[in-house]
Amino acid sequence: MNINPRRTPLIAGNWKMNLDHLQAIAFVQKLAWNLKDSRHDVAAVEVAVFPPFTDLRSVQTLISADKLPLAFGAQDVSAHDSGAYTGEISGAFLAQLECQYVIIGHSERRTLHNESDEQVASKVTAALKHNLVPVICVGESTEDLAVHGPSAVPVAQLRAALAGVTNAVDIVVAYEPVWAIGSGQAATPEQAEQVAAALRGVLSDTLGQDVADKTRILYGGSVKSSNIAAFMREPNVDGALVGGASLDIPEFSSIIRYQKHVGL
Ligand code: PGA
Repeated sequence: MNINPRRTPLIAGNWKMNLDHLQAIAFVQKLAWNLKDSRHDVAAVEVAVFPPFTDLRSVQTLISADKLPLAFGAQDVSAHDSGAYTGEISGAFLAQLECQYVIIGHSERRTLHNESDEQVASKVTAALKHNLVPVICVGESTEDLAVHGPSAVPVAQLRAALAGVTNAVDIVVAYEPVWAIGSGQAATPEQAEQVAAALRGVLSDTLGQDVADKTRILYGGSVKSSNIAAFMREPNVDGALVGGASLDIPEFSSIIRYQKHVGL
């Protein structure tokens, strides 16, 4: 199990385009009750939710009014601060909504919206400028794996994403193999560890050993309550970015409580 005292594990729920703001309120309330009932220790495992933009104000109000022990963030951010960018959302706006995190470069944005490594890098810079912690997503497709082997594409994507980052920073990296997202076919813990170790090497090269040691590297792609514990046993895996299973409260809270699973 990951016992690095410098890295609090993070279980992050990426809702993608699911749940409107009313559904989000009910969901977050129930999730918080569930975690309270099960006496979840947020100091031991941090929990964050990533709702659609239109839910963020409602989620912020609920979490802050009821002092719920949940972090939250957005699923994307503009590279720009303000101006003629119809449909874009500024990091300044997200910071005003008390978002702590923002997902950047998710594979669905890279493929469905043709987001380039350069755009991802600009968004990372924009997030940091507004004190948002970027959750930088990297991952290879089946073809990438066949042509380049393991690690090569995620490593190149992370190097590119960090192009504009110079000083010691607070970031999260999520390794999400494209073939594992939403497929029910997760990577093996050994595969996740191999890539996570390579990504930590990139962090060490580019930002120094201290940042590499304290940065959380998540695994994502078909994470469930039945496989989370095996990922969390790997020394370089510090949490999970969970899609489908994060929309099911009993399942998500069981993932969050992975330390209680048999065998750990
Ligand atoms: P999944 O999605 O857990 O449904 O595979 C993960 C993600 O896209 O972040």
